[in-house]
Parts: sequence; structure tokens; C-alpha cells
Amino acid sequence: MSTVTDQFRRVFGEDPEGVWEAPGRVNLIGEHTDYNNGLVLPIALPQRTYAAARRRVDGTLRLSSTSGGEVEIALHDIAPGVPDGWGRYAAGVLWALREAGHLVGGLDIAIDSTVPIGSGLSSSAALEGAVAAAASDLFGLGLLADDSTRTTLAALCQKAENVIAQAPTGGMDQAASLRCTEGHAILLDCRNGHVSQIPFELRSHGLVLLVIDTKAQHANSDGQYGRRRAACERAAAELGVTSLRDVPYSHLAQALHKLEHDHELFARVQHVVSEIQRVRDTVEALEAGELAEVGLLFTSSHLSLRDDFDVSCDELDVAVDSAIGAGALGARMTGGGFGGSAIALVPERLAYDVERAVTNAYQRRGFTKPAFFRATPAGGARRTE
Ligand code: GLA
Repeated sequence: MSTVTDQFRRVFGEDPEGVWEAPGRVNLIGEHTDYNNGLVLPIALPQRTYAAARRRVDGTLRLSSTSGGEVEIALHDIAPGVPDGWGRYAAGVLWALREAGHLVGGLDIAIDSTVPIGSGLSSSAALEGAVAAAASDLFGLGLLADDSTRTTLAALCQKAENVIAQAPTGGMDQAASLRCTEGHAILLDCRNGHVSQIPFELRSHGLVLLVIDTKAQHANSDGQYGRRRAACERAAAELGVTSLRDVPYSHLAQALHKLEHDHELFARVQHVVSEIQRVRDTVEALEAGELAEVGLLFTSSHLSLRDDFDVSCDELDVAVDSAIGAGALGARMTGGGFGGSAIALVPERLAYDVERAVTNAYQRRGFTKPAFFRATPAGGARRTE
């Protein structure tokens, strides 16, 4: 990426030692299951964050981003909530590497990104992944070597996000950014970190995966995420299990029976346990080439997230309803919810009709104009220059 190299030269006055990139993601299915030790099925996107970097000898981190301005901090000053703003995702990665005992020094880093920010496509995990990849190579840590070292790196990126950025997220986004391979979704088992590469190819079925960026971002969604997570933990405790993953789908009715006194926990458990089963069913349908079934599973997932997990919003619901009305085989919100993006599985010949239907519905409702792109499964973080 020569633009980020040019930016590095302009800001820091010399050449970077290299350029690294890491992708954003869309999750096909398995939402709000990662922090319940469940299953998720994300793909990495061709949209990436680029980090041009050079080592420094004085233990300082300097960051410059085309969209976010500049940040400078001594490595030993990085702490929960410090620095504030976007810089904490990058700084947090260096902190987590050092905490794990890796010899990581100061860096100058220029950042550029094609991952839309605030669209639920994991721009923060892409930033963490690009910085982690750069630090791993520049300090000779070898953490990009294979899937097992990438698993370690993904866990450190998640720690950066949980501790320094103070967002109580699960590990799906970082795993997708570091462990995905081109042409595949990863089936990630969040209980043990195991990944299976699942071929994800739509063209031969005459289909596309349309991403609908609703452009909606709802205030207070961070607090809502934490509340959902806490409710799941409370429900697991009431049911006497370590996590909701330990409630088999075949025992869902009995588990719900025990939660009849608490509507909130009842609904959350209903979603999580059925969603984990939908991930299994989706993989089976993909492997059998039954794409109509995949579409139906997407839509069931959305209804469950809307009605039981309560993390959708009008913009996401209108996107899903109008996509299906215009011929999508199925559609759902993707990511944390409360805004962000939806995905729709659409016959290629109807893709523009779906875009038009969603755009018109948004116009009628007075929503901000949505944006669209067709997602294809790309590879994980790597060195590019
Ligand atoms: C956000 C979090 C992920 C995951 C999703 C919901 O993207 O970062 O860890 O919990 O929400 O599936």
C-alpha cells in the first residue's frame, strides 16, 4: 500500500521498515455466542487496515492515522483507558505483547484503512491485527507463522481490547482477522479455540453476499453489550453451568423451564442456545450445497437477535425485511447490533433490486442513505511490503 508508505514518510520523515495489513470481517452466523464459549462462522473481508511501521529505540509509540489524527505515548504509560480514543486499540496490542513477556520496543506507525469505521465490520480488530502483525515481525516474535501462533496473537489482541480499550467483547473479531483464509469462513469453537476452514463459495450458486451498511450507530450500545454479556453469565450461574455452551440444544426446553420466572434470562438463553445450533446447521447446509437453507437460517438468526436477544434496531430490521421482500434468500444483522451492518444472501441477478428496495425503504422512513458492497472471503493478516 504505497499511500500508507507515503503517509509514513510525510509524518515521520523516513521510510517504514515494512507494511502489514489485517482485515475487517462479517460474521455469517453465530452472534453473541463467542463470549458464551459457543460457535461462530465469520469471513475476513477484502477491506483492510494497513500499518506502515518502523522501530524506535526510546520506548515510545507514535501513531498517525488518516482518519483519526496522531497519538504519542510512552509504552510504560499504556494502561486501562490510556491512551483514549482509537489509539488504545493499537497501544493495547503492544501492552498485551509486553505483558505476555515479549520483548517489544517503541514504534512509529502510520495507519490507513479501507474498513468502514463504526459499521460493525470490526475496524478495531483490523487495527489491532495490523499492529500485532507489524510488532510480531519487527521484533522477531514469529507469531504470524501458523494457525497456532496466530491463535496466541488473536488472544493478545482480544486482551488489548478487553483491558486497555475496556470493551468486554468476545474473541471472534480478532480470530477472524488473524486466522481466516481466502475462500473460507472459519468455524471457530470459542470453548477451545479450534478452527475449521469451511469453503464459502457463492458464485457457482449464482449468489452474492450483500453487506448493507445501515449507517446507524446507536448511543449507549457499549453498555448494552456488557449488559447482554452479564445476563448470559447470570443465566449460566442459575443453570449451574460454566457457560451457556454447556446447555445442549436438546436440553433447551428443560433449561428454559428453570428460567420461567425471569423473562430476560429466558429470552437470552433461548437465543444463545438456538443460535449455536444454527451455526452447526449452517455449516451442514453449506457443505451440502443447500444455500436456500442457509438463507432461512440467516433469517431465523435475525428474528432471534431481534426478539429474544433484543440487539437489533429499526434500521437493521428494515434492511432485513426489505432485502427479503426483494428476493434475498435470507438476511440478518451481523456483529454486535444496535446499528452497524446487515448481510443478505441474494441471487446475483436480484442484487440491484435488493439495493434499490432497501434504499427506497430507508428514504421512506427518513433514515440516512445506506451503503452496499458484495463481500467475498479473504485471507487474514499478513505483511504486504
Ligand atoms: C462484537 C464483538 C464480538 C461478538 C459480536 C457479537 O462484534 O466484538 O466479540 O460478541 O459483537 O457476535
